[in-house]
Order: sequence, then C-alpha cells, then structure tokens
Amino acid sequence: MADVLTPGGADEPKELVPLKPLGKVMAITSGKGGVGKTFVSANLAAALAKRGHRVLVLDADLGLANLDVVLNLYPKITLHDVFTGKAKIEEAIIKAPGGFSVLLAGSGMVEYSRLTTEVRDDFLRIMSGLVPHYDIVLLDTGAGISDVVLFAVSLASEVIVVATPEPTSLTDAYATIKVLVGQQKRSTIRMVVNQAARMGDGRAITTQLQQVLDRFVSTDPAKPIRLIHMGDIPADQSVRQAIMRRQLMMQSTPGCPAAMAIAQLAMRFEETVMVRKPAN
Ligand SMILES: Nc1ncnc2c1ncn2[C@@H]1O[C@H](COP(=O)(O)OP(=O)(O)O)[C@@H](O)[C@H]1O
Ligand SMILES: [Mg+2]
Repeated sequence: MADVLTPGGADEPKELVPLKPLGKVMAITSGKGGVGKTFVSANLAAALAKRGHRVLVLDADLGLANLDVVLNLYPKITLHDVFTGKAKIEEAIIKAPGGFSVLLAGSGMVEYSRLTTEVRDDFLRIMSGLVPHYDIVLLDTGAGISDVVLFAVSLASEVIVVATPEPTSLTDAYATIKVLVGQQKRSTIRMVVNQAARMGDGRAITTQLQQVLDRFVSTDPAKPIRLIHMGDIPADQSVRQAIMRRQLMMQSTPGCPAAMAIAQLAMRFEETVMVRKPAN
C-alpha cells in the first residue's frame, strides 16, 4: 500500500480528484463519533424498506465498523473479501432483519482505513455497480474529516450530518460541514439531530449553525450554503435496550418515540430526497 494519497508519502503526493457523486446515495456522517450514525442508518433503512423501497446500507466506517453488531449479523463474506478478490459483490450482500440489504465491512477492513488509490478505485467500482439495483443506498460512514470519511462522503449525492445537542458535537459538526463545503463544494447539507431532549431542539440548533456558516463560511452571496433540518430523534431508552438485545429498534419497539421519529424522518426523506424533479 505504497500509493497513499496523502502528502508525505514516498511518491509525489497526488491530488484528490473530485469524483462525480453517485445519485441515490446518501452519506450519513458526523463530526463527533458515537452520536448515532449507525443507529440512524439501520433504522432509517428499515423505515424506508417498510415504505416499499429497495434499500442498501453499506458499512463505510472502515476503521470502526459496528453495523454488524447493531444488526446482529455475522456474515462469512464481507466487503473485505470483495476488496481482496476472494468473493463477488453479490455474495457479500445480505438481508438485514428490517427488510433491507447490507454490505458489511468486516474487521479486515481496518487495513483500508488509509486511503490509497486501490481503496478509492475498489470503492468506486463496487458502488457504481451497486447503485442501479437499489432505490436508495445509505453509507454509514465514520466520524470526522479523515481522508477515508471524506472520500466515502464524496461518493454520495446527499450528505446527512448527525449531531446531538451537546456543544462538542455541534462544534465538530460545524468543522465537518466547513470541510464539506470547502473541499467538496457542497451547498446543501441535511441535518438530523439525535438524542434531542425536546422536540424543536434540532431546528434551533440548525438555525444557530446556519448563522455561523453564513457569517464565517458563506462568503460568496451568490453561492449560499443551506443547512436543511430533516428532523429530530429524541433520546429514548428503547434505543439502548434494542442495541443491548441486538435487535433493530424499528422492529422491537416500533411505537417508541425514537421509532416514531425515524418513521417521520423516512417520510421526509422520501418527499425531499428520493423524489426528484428532473434537472433543468
Ligand atoms: N436516540 C437515542 N437515544 C438514546 N441513546 C442513543 C440514541 N441514539 C444513539 N444512542 C446511543 O449512542 C450509541 C452510539 O450510537 P452509534 O449509532 O453506534 O453511533 P455512531 O455510529 O455515530 O458512532 C448507541 O449505542 C446508543 O446507546
Ligand atoms: Mg457507527
């Protein structure tokens, strides 16, 4: 793995050429870790599947993958085997309890947590082949602004930043958004506020972040950056209980407040992201 695309490698550092994001792909990311990306990815996927969509969740948190734990799935074949040429992509895709498909990273993927040309090419090849088979693909990415996270996000047409109302989560969300705007020229970022104490928290937080962006990041009035608040998910004991029992919350407690919030979120995504007017 000599061909690392970061400055300081043995060779001339290569430019990270921006890729054209793939349609129908939503990256679920965050500034800070542990805010609920995997929980949101899995349960939103289940809610969208229940609404009749063909959904694939790809575990793109290569270093700290834990979608397998949340879904209680331990497949023999993972993305790692696809990357190493030991298996075909179709063999690594499995059905999750919520009626959606998953592509799990596997522990071997930790070797790929440095971005090399091979990783980029393999990822892009795998993704391009998969996307046409689904109505929507969710990328459960890692947190922060490492090369791998930013690359995974760059593949997506839509970015969802998950944040909690904690000040540290918000400052980290701001830092991530700033990089996404600067490096990927994103002008629309969607926000989901998880572990909200009160409904309405998320809207207030999004407005606050928007003001800071307008002041310090959106310097060109012709190119405004828009944060779109997609919804709040309350802090709910059922989330932890479901994870402890290795069950999908949408299945184990579909009537709990967090599940109802996710169901609403799914409707909102359906209305705003999945139904697109043709570009003019
Ligand atoms: N809405 C919520 N209410 C209560 N606990 C939550 C909620 N969302 C997430 N958690 C807790 O946070 C932990 C981390 O969530 P996870 O999805 O693994 O985060 P990430 O993928 O961002 O690292 C979960 O194991 C769960 O215990
Ligand atoms: Mg995670």
